[in-house]
Amino acid sequence: MKIQQFFYGSDNLAYLLHHGGRALAIDGGAVEAILDYVRDRDLVLIGVTNTHGHGDHTSGTDRLVAASGAPYRDHRQFDDGEVIDLAGETITVRHTPGHTMDSVTFCAGDVMVTGDTLFNGTVGNCFSGDLEAFYRSIRLLMDRPESTRIYAGHDYVAASLAFARHLTPDNRAIDAYAARYDKHHVVSTLADELAVNPYLRFNQPDIIALLQSRGRPTETEYQRWEGVMSLE
Ligand SMILES: [Fe+2]
Repeated sequence: MKIQQFFYGSDNLAYLLHHGGRALAIDGGAVEAILDYVRDRDLVLIGVTNTHGHGDHTSGTDRLVAASGAPYRDHRQFDDGEVIDLAGETITVRHTPGHTMDSVTFCAGDVMVTGDTLFNGTVGNCFSGDLEAFYRSIRLLMDRPESTRIYAGHDYVAASLAFARHLTPDNRAIDAYAARYDKHHVVSTLADELAVNPYLRFNQPDIIALLQSRGRPTETEYQRWEGVMSLE
């Protein structure tokens, strides 16, 4: 399975997953660039879908559907675990509520398209208000193989690393992560995130010590998750 990342807006990221001449567009705001890519490679666009319903992610959907003739696939209609076939390779849709209740993540081979659930360096805001659902979603993504490459809905890397440095200034892994950052191809592995992203590091001694210094309970994993989500 191949993945192509497209930039649009100030920091939004759109994606095409493709294999065997068939492609799925996800958060297709970079309409012209996606159409060009599909045309140049003679791909058949088998669907246009979204990671969640926020307007900055759905802005290109109607235009892409109209211009390509590809079917719209409403992300809210996918069952958890539903499989999309692309010429014999598969994309599995997982429900990952938390940022919004309708957030989904597309898992394909060693790649995942996470929308605003998991970013490179941080996680999304919990606009749903359901912190427990968000915890289960992040746990689900954390349990994927560590080599999994994370393709998110925005490039928030600079601000995310600044905040990670603020919370954990002694974490040298942040320097290595920053050195690997490429603004023309924004990606990290799950291993990178487990080393750097404070919101995935709720079981690490430095984060637990930080939570304790702020008077937060740290006995259970969920308490530590609640704690990291409250850090300023
Ligand atoms: Fe969003």
